Formats: sequence, C-alpha cells, structure tokens
Amino acid sequence: MTQAPNVYDAEPIPAAARQEIERLLQTGDLFRYTAPENAPVALLEAEFAELLGSKYALAVSSCSAALFLSLKALKLPRDARVLIPGFTFAAVPSSVVHADCIPVLCEVGENYRIDIKDFETRLDENISAVIISHMRGHTSDMDAIMALCNARGIPVIEDAAHSLGTTWHGKNIGTIGKIGCFSFQSYKLVNAGEGGILITDDADLVARAVIMSGAYEHNWKKHKSRAGDNTSDLEKAFARHQNKLPLYNLRMSNLSAVIIRPQLPEVARRVRDGRANHDYVATQLNTSPWLSVPEKLAPEERAPDSIQFNLIGMDSEEANTFARVAKENGVSVQVFGQSTDNARAYWNWQFLPEMPDLPRTRAMLENACDVRLPARLSKDDLDYIARTLVAAAESAKEEARAYGT
Ligand SMILES: Cc1ncc(COP(=O)(O)O)c(C=O)c1O
Repeated sequence: MTQAPNVYDAEPIPAAARQEIERLLQTGDLFRYTAPENAPVALLEAEFAELLGSKYALAVSSCSAALFLSLKALKLPRDARVLIPGFTFAAVPSSVVHADCIPVLCEVGENYRIDIKDFETRLDENISAVIISHMRGHTSDMDAIMALCNARGIPVIEDAAHSLGTTWHGKNIGTIGKIGCFSFQSYKLVNAGEGGILITDDADLVARAVIMSGAYEHNWKKHKSRAGDNTSDLEKAFARHQNKLPLYNLRMSNLSAVIIRPQLPEVARRVRDGRANHDYVATQLNTSPWLSVPEKLAPEERAPDSIQFNLIGMDSEEANTFARVAKENGVSVQVFGQSTDNARAYWNWQFLPEMPDLPRTRAMLENACDVRLPARLSKDDLDYIARTLVAAAESAKEEARAYGT
C-alpha cells in the first residue's frame, strides 16, 4: 500500500435504509408527529433507549440541541454557572451560553481527561450543573466526578457526542449522569449528517425536554418510556408542564431517523473495529521517542474513531513541521493548540462571558494531535498512517537539528 487512505469518507449507509427513504419520499411523511404511532423518530427513540439501557430517549436536531434542552430541563436560572472541561468542542460552551448560563472551565490533563483536583476546587456552591464532555471519547474519572457531584447535589450531564459504545465499569457512557447526550453528525460513530439524542431515567426531565423540543399541544402522547407505556410518571409529568414551557422546535425529522436506525445494529462492530484499529496504531506510535498515546483509565472500554497522541519534546516550530510533513505524505494531523482558530482550543471561544487561564490545558493542547481513524480502515491503511506519523516526527526533529532551531 503506497497510497494515503481517505479517512474522511464515512461508511455507506446500510441498504436497509433505502426502502424506508423511498417510502418517506413517496408519502411525504417527514414530520415526526404526523403518523398516529410508530413514526421512524419514535421507533429510533425506543431502539436507542433499549441499546443504551435507559428509560427514555428524545431524538433532536443535534447533540448541541440535546445539551441545550438538558440545561433547560434542569430549570437552570439565567446566569447559572455550569462547570465544563477546558478541552471540548466550541459547541459545548455554546450550548451553555444558548441556555443563558455561564460556562466555567476546568483544567484537563495530558491524558485528555478532567483534572479531578482542579474540578473539585471549581465545584463550589456557585456551580448549578456540570457537563462532562468525554472529548474524543476519552472518559474522565466518572467515579470521582459522580462522588463529588452527588455529595453536593449537582446534576451531571454527560456529553457523549464521541462516546457511543464506550463503557465505564461495564456501564454505558451516557447512563452514568442524570442525562446523556449523543451526536449523529457525520464525524461520529453513527452518521446522519446532523442529529442528536438525549437519554435519561428521569420522567420529569424528559417530559420537560420533550415539550421544549417542540411537542406542541398533545404531541407528547406519542412519547413512551422504554417499557412502551406512557402512563403514570411520564403522563403526570407531561400534564404538569402542559402550556407552561417554550417550544424551541429542535425536533428530528423522520428522514434522519430512517438513516440512523439501520446503523444501530452496526454499532457493536464499529466499536470493536475502531478499538482494534486505535490500539494497533497506538502501539506503533509509542515506538517513537517523539510520540506518546496516553493510556485509558482502567474502568474504561473505549470506542474510538480517531486517535489522539502527544508530541514529546517538540517546540511549536517542530510541531508545525511534523504536521506539515505528515500532510505532505497524505496524513492530516491537527495539533489542537497550534492551528489557527481551532474550535477545540478554549482561548478561541471569545464569546465566553469569562475567559479563564488554564495553563495545564493550554500546555496539553499545544502538543496534542488528532488523526481520524474510522473503523472501516484496513490493516494496510493503518500501517500507512502509523508509518507516516512516526517518519514525520523523525523528519521534524532532523530538520530542527539540521537548521539548529
Ligand atoms: C465533544 C462534542 N460535544 C458536542 C458536539 C456537538 O455535536 P453536534 O454537532 O451534534 O451538535 C460535538 C461536535 O462535534 C463535539 O465534538
């Protein structure tokens, strides 16, 4: 294999989607609330809740919408302070700002996980909620986080945008906090172009989120618990909130749902292959003195579709040479903290009401690299990527030695 693999194309959508897409095109049945029951979006919600083992699921237009609705469902007042990691995608602090709340950032260590000491220090009486972003699917110490938050009665939202299929002590990520939010945007394990879903076991929370997502009038009757019933807890919760909440209209369309549903049975395979690919490339990268892939935490089983690693002993110039040489050889690497306007570098979130200084996170971002590694890649593809990265690191150091920088 001499050709660089294309890591941007997604897997084809399973053929089973075509028949349903055709039916939707023939009937025009695109709106989730037109059919009296079993609309594709409702079926997706039931299947996703079953897959994850949660009581309720609400499919929406994006993971950002799910995060926003989660904060709204928690009844956070204006200017409530929400603790989030300093390493995540800009959409996460944006969802906090969208909900009229204030993002408070905490430090993230060289292993891309929340610095628990710093988290604890910032988890003071002014914090009303926490969003744990499992950025690029790296799970922070959920035992420590849940113990700290439970002791203070602070609700935890899990941003599991990259964590579908990841487990912690065998439990699905997204089911550990009060609410879990997932993304179906194209660069995630399940691809619908756009889309998101939130899961919870809390009837009152989901009822509020359902109504605010746009279940106007009595459309909430089409939402069920995983057991299929819509009586008792859920129905009472809907009755309590009828006409009392704004409708933000963040619904998912049936077209997205029919593209997502046949991918759910593919999740286990994608997780297995993605993990094997990641670990295979990680072993090769770790042979370089200039590259290091941090270890996962012991209770975590990962579901990666990309690989992150740190540059060791390289300055900015060398880091940029490394990325340039890798790209010239067909492998795109982003060094989070080096590329201009990177949306994962917190100092670029200039919309934040309060801009923190996070020296540990900044130092990590300046050395942390990101390469896509979709589950569909072959062994030759993986070898090509690993070889190219190791050689690019060597070139960066050689160039520096040659020019004395
Ligand atoms: C960590 C993380 N959280 C949330 C989101 C938002 O997802 P969406 O694009 O579905 O709004 C993203 C998007 O890439 C993300 O990377």
